[in-house]
Amino acid sequence: MSAEYNAKFAQNALATRAIHAGQEPDPTTGAVVTPIFATSTFKQDGVLGLRGGHDYSRSINPTRTSFDEQLASVEGAKYALSFSSGLASIDVLLRSTIKPGDNILLGNDVYGGTYRLLAKVFVPWGVGLDVMDITDLKAVEAALSSKHYEYVWVETPSNPLLNITDIAATVEVAHKYGTKVAVDNTFASPALQHPLDEGADVVVYSTTKYIGGHSDVVGGAVVLNDEETREKVAFLQNAAGAVPSPFDSWLDIRGLKTLDLRVKRHSANALKVAEWLESQPADVIERVWYPGLESHPGHEIAAHQMHGGFGGIVSVQLAAGAEAAKRFVDHTQIFTLAESLGGVESLIEVPAAMTHASVAGTTLQVPANLVRISVGIENADDLIADLKQALERL
Ligand SMILES: Cc1ncc(COP(=O)(O)O)c(C=O)c1O
Repeated sequence: MSAEYNAKFAQNALATRAIHAGQEPDPTTGAVVTPIFATSTFKQDGVLGLRGGHDYSRSINPTRTSFDEQLASVEGAKYALSFSSGLASIDVLLRSTIKPGDNILLGNDVYGGTYRLLAKVFVPWGVGLDVMDITDLKAVEAALSSKHYEYVWVETPSNPLLNITDIAATVEVAHKYGTKVAVDNTFASPALQHPLDEGADVVVYSTTKYIGGHSDVVGGAVVLNDEETREKVAFLQNAAGAVPSPFDSWLDIRGLKTLDLRVKRHSANALKVAEWLESQPADVIERVWYPGLESHPGHEIAAHQMHGGFGGIVSVQLAAGAEAAKRFVDHTQIFTLAESLGGVESLIEVPAAMTHASVAGTTLQVPANLVRISVGIENADDLIADLKQALERL
């Protein structure tokens, strides 16, 4: 697993890199699939005689290295570092690069857990947090010119309203004021969007979602090109220890191999579902949020920033209100009522009562009648029929 090996695939398309980068056959046996190196420690050939730098699995593990190289290659980045969850990756990135007294500008429609981490952990630590509609570039510029921010934190598409932020335009403004741009690319995944190519400084993922892709692993990653930042993140990763297990890394590797295929199908299905929902009477469906629909305020930006689809998440507001939203998600038969997203199976939930309950009463509060749908890769007609019967039973 070497840089030279990965360089072999640098000119190849994403679907090829996803399958080959970092996946050198095992040198001992020729095993084509990276083994699960379930070992906490490694034999030293004499004191500090390390084989390939391997000493202890918190610091380095070959299965994790394999995934890190695969993800970096898929992203077209120099480095990827994986973690035991998406939030652990956000925590380590921020804790290793900011200090008390620094400020963060956060979008007002980010994952509730990201807001909770910042508001309940980083703010008491002494970090300043301002939350605003970061799709409004004029307002972003006004904020950046009034105070120094270490990061603008962008989630695009955002969770759960699928707001779209123009990454390149945000980078242009932010860099003018010496502010870095971090993009949570979980919803788009590297199959559809490459924030580093748009000038972003760092990308984070919850690999729990599309990268893992099968709702069977919790994980996260930081992806970046800057070596100095990589060193800081790697230091805290080892010092604090929120690393994925070898089995988690193996599941991530397997998921990432089929990302391109899956996300294209997720996107095609989601567009069909969104169009069908939008065609329903206004007294049933109040509003559909999907960046692939022309009615979505961020559609034009998404159309040039995302490549090959608009992702698998559709949010919908029910005209009959919050209680009807709860009944609706309870009536589906193929869509499973559960938190999370990005797996092959379709999931459905009510953010205000579930994933985003922790932001109730804040500027991030989401509409009570909103239903978030993670459209899976089943047959689209079956999915639409399931939503239809659930709406008819309201
Ligand atoms: C956009 C986004 N970022 C980060 C996270 C946190 O990831 P994890 O649950 O893997 O810690 C989530 C989880 O839902 C998410 O949706």
